[in-house]
Order: sequence, then C-alpha cells, then structure tokens
Amino acid sequence: MSDHKGFCLWFTGLSGSGKSTLSRMLEPELRKRGCKVEILDGDEVRENLSKGLGFSKEDRDTNIRRIGYVAKLLSRNGVIVMTAAISPYADVRGQCRTMIGDFVEVYTECSIEELTNRDVKGLYAKAISGEIKNFTGISDPYEAPESPEIRVYSENQSPEESLAAILEYLESQSLIPGTATTSA
Ligand code: ADX
Repeated sequence: MSDHKGFCLWFTGLSGSGKSTLSRMLEPELRKRGCKVEILDGDEVRENLSKGLGFSKEDRDTNIRRIGYVAKLLSRNGVIVMTAAISPYADVRGQCRTMIGDFVEVYTECSIEELTNRDVKGLYAKAISGEIKNFTGISDPYEAPESPEIRVYSENQSPEESLAAILEYLESQSLIPGTATTSA
C-alpha cells in the first residue's frame, strides 16, 4: 500500500547533532505508515559510494552531489529518502534541492559547546587539539540553512520530541499518512 509520493528528507547539521539518530528513529515510523524508506547516511556513504573522498570543500561537495543524485533517483520512484550528511555548504544543498524537487530540509541545531561536551565519537577533542584538521564547526565552516522546512534542537529537545516535530510537519503537509488506523 505504498502509493505515497516519494520525497527527500535532507538532514543537515554538525557531526553529533542527531542526523543519523533521527533518521534511524523515523525509519520504522514511516514504514508503519506504509512508506518505502531508504537512508543515505554520511558515514555509510563514505564507506562505499564516496570511498576515498576527504573533507576538502571539493570532496565534500562531490560527496553531497552523489548523495543528492541517488536521492533524486529514489525519491522519484516513490521512496522517502533520508540523507544524513553534515552537508556544510549552502550552495550545494541548494543545488540538491533544485535537482530533487521534492525536498524537505531538516536542520539539527546544536551548539559547539554541547557537541564538544558530548563528543560521542571523540572527534571534537581531536579537532580542538589539531589532530584532525578541517573539522566542521571547529576548523572548517558550517553554513547553517536560513529557512529550513524543519528545525530541531538536540540541545534542549529529546530525540522523541524532535521525532514528533518532524512527523507532525510531514503530516501537516500531507507528505505522509497519519497513524490513525481506520476503525470508524
Ligand atoms: S560532509 O561534509 O561531506 O557532509 P559527512 O557527513 O559525509 O560530511 O561525514 C562527516 C563524518 O565524518 C562526521 O560525522 C565524522 O564522523 C567524520 N569526519 C572525519 N573527519 C571529519 C572532518 N574533518 N569534518 C567533519 N567530519 C569528519
């Protein structure tokens, strides 16, 4: 019963801000509603589709264009594609938006202070000490989206609250069906 239109839910935000977590949480929620779902996760894409690419602006842009291209192919075939890459440059995000068309941008907002305190992968400490160069938010730019369709705040919202906000937006735009099962 997957007759819903595909679209791309494009997460953008700093490393550790919740892009992967939220996309993984959304996956079963969308499947429950009969939607076809795929996730293009930054870390995973860099293991296969973008293996060998680094973190220069040029390599990041190439990575993002590849993700955007696959998202276009999938979304036009009825799949809800969630992308979870930092995608730090507004220009390429805009190009992906244009190329894909059905595009919902989700900005996972979180302060550097909070991310540095959490430092789940231990990368912020290494970036601050200079062990990792060109680290987004520390020694490399992050261009925050000016008018994303959705903003979530991982600093003072629980993942469940962010998840609910995203689902609410998607339902309000009739992009996904509600969960209310037909009993009447
Ligand atoms: S993007 O800039 O091209 O969108 P992507 O999301 O694929 O980045 O990869 C980011 C992940 O790579 C981070 O979550 C982190 O685990 C790892 N990483 C390693 N080096 C860096 C770096 N210099 N800047 C940002 N992330 C890095």
